[in-house]
Formats: sequence, C-alpha cells, structure tokens
Amino acid sequence: MRELIATILENKKIAEDVFSMTFACDEAIKVRPGQFAMLGVSGFPLRRPIAVCKAEGERITVCYRLKGEGTRRLAFGYSRGEKISVLLPLGNGFFVGEQEKKVAIVGGGVGIFPLISAIREYADTKEIFAYMGFRSKAALCMEYEMRRGKSLVIATDDGSYGYHGTAVQAFMEEIDGIKPDVILSCGPMPMLRALKNAVAGRGIPTYVSLEERMGCGIGACLVCVCNLTNGEHARVCKDGPVFEIEEVRI
Ligand SMILES: Cc1cc2nc3c(=O)[nH]c(=O)nc-3n(C[C@H](O)[C@H](O)[C@H](O)COP(=O)(O)OP(=O)(O)OC[C@H]3O[C@@H](n4cnc5c(N)ncnc54)[C@H](O)[C@@H]3O)c2cc1C
Ligand code: FES
Repeated sequence: MRELIATILENKKIAEDVFSMTFACDEAIKVRPGQFAMLGVSGFPLRRPIAVCKAEGERITVCYRLKGEGTRRLAFGYSRGEKISVLLPLGNGFFVGEQEKKVAIVGGGVGIFPLISAIREYADTKEIFAYMGFRSKAALCMEYEMRRGKSLVIATDDGSYGYHGTAVQAFMEEIDGIKPDVILSCGPMPMLRALKNAVAGRGIPTYVSLEERMGCGIGACLVCVCNLTNGEHARVCKDGPVFEIEEVRI
C-alpha cells in the first residue's frame, strides 16, 4: 500500500450522477482487480473508499456515483492539474485460478466498476460472460469496457435499455448454457442476496466484493467489520472486500 499525492488528469461526468476521475501517480502501481483506493477529500476527515476501475501504469481511473457531501466535493471541487491524496492499492481483490476458464461476472450499481477491472484483467485469457445492471439507460456508462469479454448483457430496472430486469435474473436465464467455472460479483446487498439464493447448491465458486462503510481502509479502526457464517468476524477493508459468498452473511 502506498500513500501518495496524485495529479488529476481528468474528472468528468460519464452518466447521470456518475463521474470518472483519472489521476497520475509518481510511479506505476500494480493493482489487482477488485482492489480499491481511499481518496482524501479536502474538508472531510475520513477518506472515501472507491474501487480502482482501470490501472494503466501510473494512471489510475476511478468512477463514482454522487451520494453525499464527499462524492459531491470530489465531482465539483477537483479539476485537471490539481492534487489529490490517495492510499492504494487496498484490500485483497478478485483472483481467478489457472484452471477456471469460464468466468461469469454479475454486477449492479457502483459494483460494476471493480468488475470492469476484472474484465480488463481476464478478457485475453478467459471466456468472460458479463451481466451488468443499471437503474435506467441514463445511468449506463463504460459499455465499451464491459464489451471486452466474450458476451455482455446489460439489464435495466425500467427496461429502457437491454434486458428488462436485474443482472441476476438475466444471468440465471443463461447460467445452464454457460456452465461458468467461477462467478465474480459486486453490487448492492439485495442483489448479492438474490445471487446467493439463486446459485445455492450449484457448487460454483462465487466471489463477492462487499461495500461496507469504512473509516481507515487499512484494518485499524474496525468500522467495516462484517459477520462470517462461521460466527467469526472479518474486516472488509483488510480481509476483503472480496469474500467467497458462502463465507459471509449477506
Ligand atoms: C471497497 C469499496 C469500494 C467502493 N467502490 C465504489 C466505486 O467504485 N464507486 C462508487 O461510486 N462508490 C464506491 N463505493 C461506495 C463509496 O465509498 C461511497 O458511496 C462514498 O464513500 C460515499 O461518500 P459520500 O461522502 O458521498 O457519502 P456520505 O453518505 O455523506 O458519506 C458519509 C460517510 O459514510 C461513508 N459511506 C457512505 N456510503 C458508503 C458506502 N456505500 N460504502 C462505504 N462507505 C460509505 C463515507 O465514506 C463517509 O465516511 C465503494 C465502497 C467500498 C467500501
Ligand atoms: S475501515 Fe478501518 S478497519 Fe476497515
């Protein structure tokens, strides 16, 4: 993990309430898909956790949805050439083994961003089947990045684009035809719960990235603790954010 002052190269709106920020670090940083950054936002004591969407040498891109004051300040208070304090890379990230060739990716909401990093990492060596859910066409972004895999289904809650329904529903209609070796997922809790129920008993290794509220992002404050199914607890920032779906209570 590095703490650095990066230079913002671009910070722009890419969809309704969604922004993309690219910043340059002082050296190339190796980031696993699913790892995240803690961004220091001026005027706020706590950094904001945001997944790394693209890591290209010293250039890092994160995408974020406007939620509260911090993300609003990020969107409207920072422009090209300004500096931003960043901790990265943080967390464990996704890992797909050698023998796992068919990878299903199921994402929704801001959960699509760490999954884009997984698509970029594995598109050349694996067969990627992606199912990505959005509220509506207005929220859709980064479609060209999601298309790097073998197939992509975009689902919208209101049916304004692509499949009318959720990413989990779209995936479950095709799962028997694909027979994935592994499933990677990130999205809101109800989506992860639906996925957990839908794939239960199929014996497919399924990894989910959790989005908990965080304080430090480095394992020290215990703000992000989640419950494991064996009765123990884990820190989402340090032990996760990626967990095997059967391992965590969701
Ligand atoms: C590992 C990880 C990766 C994430 N990746 C992304 C991403 O790629 N794009 C994106 O848009 N969002 C992502 N989030 C969610 C993002 O961190 C929150 O939306 C953001 O912190 C909200 O800050 P705010 O000041 O605008 O909102 P406020 O609600 O005002 O925030 C108040 C406090 O609560 C924390 N908080 C609020 N909501 C969340 C949340 N869902 N998760 C964690 N902390 C939260 C804030 O960090 C802050 O400390 C991620 C969260 C985690 C844990
Ligand atoms: S956010 Fe502090 S321990 Fe995880």
